[in-house]
Amino acid sequence: MRAISRGVNRFYVTTPIYYVNDIPHVGTAYTTIVVDALRRFHLLVGDESRMLTGTDEHGLKLERQAHEEGKTPQAFVDEMAERFRQAWPVLDIENDDFIRTTEPRHKAYVQDLWRRIEERGDLYEGEYEDWYCVGCESYKTEKELLPGNLCPIHHKPVERVKEKTFFFRLSRWEKPLLDFYERNPSFVEPASRRNEVISFVSSGLRDLSVSRTSFTWGIPVPNRPEHVMYVWFDALTNYLTALGKEGDPLRRYWPPNGRAVHVVGKDILRFHAIYWPAFLLSAGYTEKELPSQVFAHGFLTVDGQKMSKSLRNAVDPLRLARELGPDTLRYYLLRAIAFGQDGDFSHTALIERYNADLGKNLGNLLSRTLGLCVKFSDGKTPPMGEIGPLERELAEAAANASAAARAAWDELAPHRALEATWTLSSAANAYVDKAAPWASAKAGDMVRTHTILATLLEALRQLSVMIWPAMPKKSDGLRAQLGLAPLAPKAGEDLWPKGFTPRPAGEPLALAAALFPTIDKDAEAALLTKLAPHMHGAPAAEAPATAAPAAAASPAAEAPPAINYDTFLGVDLRVGLVKTAERVPRKDKLLKLAVDLGEAEPRTIIAGLALSFKPEDLVGRKIIVVANLEPRSFGKGLVSQGMLLATGPSEALHLATVEGDAPPGSRLK
Ligand code: MSP
Repeated sequence: MRAISRGVNRFYVTTPIYYVNDIPHVGTAYTTIVVDALRRFHLLVGDESRMLTGTDEHGLKLERQAHEEGKTPQAFVDEMAERFRQAWPVLDIENDDFIRTTEPRHKAYVQDLWRRIEERGDLYEGEYEDWYCVGCESYKTEKELLPGNLCPIHHKPVERVKEKTFFFRLSRWEKPLLDFYERNPSFVEPASRRNEVISFVSSGLRDLSVSRTSFTWGIPVPNRPEHVMYVWFDALTNYLTALGKEGDPLRRYWPPNGRAVHVVGKDILRFHAIYWPAFLLSAGYTEKELPSQVFAHGFLTVDGQKMSKSLRNAVDPLRLARELGPDTLRYYLLRAIAFGQDGDFSHTALIERYNADLGKNLGNLLSRTLGLCVKFSDGKTPPMGEIGPLERELAEAAANASAAARAAWDELAPHRALEATWTLSSAANAYVDKAAPWASAKAGDMVRTHTILATLLEALRQLSVMIWPAMPKKSDGLRAQLGLAPLAPKAGEDLWPKGFTPRPAGEPLALAAALFPTIDKDAEAALLTKLAPHMHGAPAAEAPATAAPAAAASPAAEAPPAINYDTFLGVDLRVGLVKTAERVPRKDKLLKLAVDLGEAEPRTIIAGLALSFKPEDLVGRKIIVVANLEPRSFGKGLVSQGMLLATGPSEALHLATVEGDAPPGSRLK
């Protein structure tokens, strides 16, 4: 599978390029962290390793968003792309390149690919008429839609599109693709996803509309500027644009000279596993020049809930990294979620893992070992004497851990790699207890005591290497305490642990503060309040427009249990008068209202009304407000100081109101 040239393997790994209508969140951080860890693993074993990430900046979704914010598309994408570019270093992600689809290098490349496909006869003009989901930037067939013409992914109405277009003869590539999948079973991973792709292709491919004429924010079709390219045609090509033209030295990363792996979420597998190889085959690339693999990972929920926009933004990976260090977040995401499957993000699980795996296991091993070295070996590496069965057992555990972790990283299974790595840390902790260096020291056997400590130091050194892909900073910190320089991987030099090779005696160690200080219950509570106020206390769902929209919408829904009158009186319901209403940038369901409740200042209320009301239609309306609900933050300084009552689904809400001229602030009882 891996192409070898001059003895060095080349590993090219990419993230999807992210749409800039959103900000980096824990989902996109997850993909990007995994890709960076893979890049680092390959660097560590001496491969030439290259990582690409970037931003997807064309298409209808972004054009509309820019207009809503009163900006030109270019100004909008410039501003938003910066947020992605600046986010990743905070998570210790060191991408080698950052591509933006609005860059000239990309435009030239995509137009070139278009021409090549055109020359081979796979583009023809026609008219497209069907459905389109702007959220997915994807065409939908009738049978894919949910009742009410809703997109099955976004649960939003799809749009009817009828326009002149260029079609790509995707149907022609059905058979070649199926043959390709069969000859290259590892092209799509995991296997369950491969089966999905194969069955989709086997059920027949329709030609694909690859240009749009009803808007202009895209890359113009060569010689036909009234057409802009379909945003996925444009976006997928980024992976090649970033390696330059044929002949560019970076092209050595692309198959057949390198191994190119696209890591994507399962939501966008079809584009990568079907369209992308079809475009390339059509443009004249051979099977050997297609990407080596498309690996589809699962989706994260947050505290068991689907990540709606408000939830996503409630878990700010950058803030987490600043509070707990990037490595804690990296370790948790890489270890707790089986790569390829869906998983859950939870702050409490993160802290639990931090305390258990990092603090109690690895952190303790380090502080115990170094404490013993200070006591019995003058804070220096002790000499290694004759080894016995316990040392052999630990050396074997180390050999197994290092082989298993290496294989797992290579197979894109970071969770298994870390699990294997931690078997060494656990084995070393068990070894200290069994070998009991304090007992041999007490008996005056310093040769034995030193042998035990030298064995432990070697286990820690190996761990400092094996954790580097996941936790580069903690690896540096661990090594500093061991008196070792940070790792500096180089192509052609394999640093992965091979065999148990203790260090010479007499080298200084540097016992320092705990590498992973315990987060106790009080600190945990403080952290949770700071990092996840919405998760721990306030409701975490999409901004409610109503007290209980689902229950209210369905008369048959089960009624909540009876409450007494005093409990009811505890709810401060007031008449409010809407003074102003405006959209909330980048939150397509929310409106921000200033509501007069008869107080000195109008209250700010953020409500999920935007799918049902234009802001101007609400001004002057009387509404009913729960005035004593705890304030709720929507991030970016947006805090709602109350909730209004309404009924119905979010696209067809009815506001609760009062008859007559009850003044603002009147209490309902
Ligand atoms: N622009 C396209 C990709 C083009 S690639 C040629 C796109 N962008 S996106 O901004 O919507 O990002 C999608 C990717 O973000 C997913 O494929 C996945 O990698 C990541 N995730 C977004 N939400 C996620 C979760 N809830 N969980 C895990 N990953 C998530 O699609």
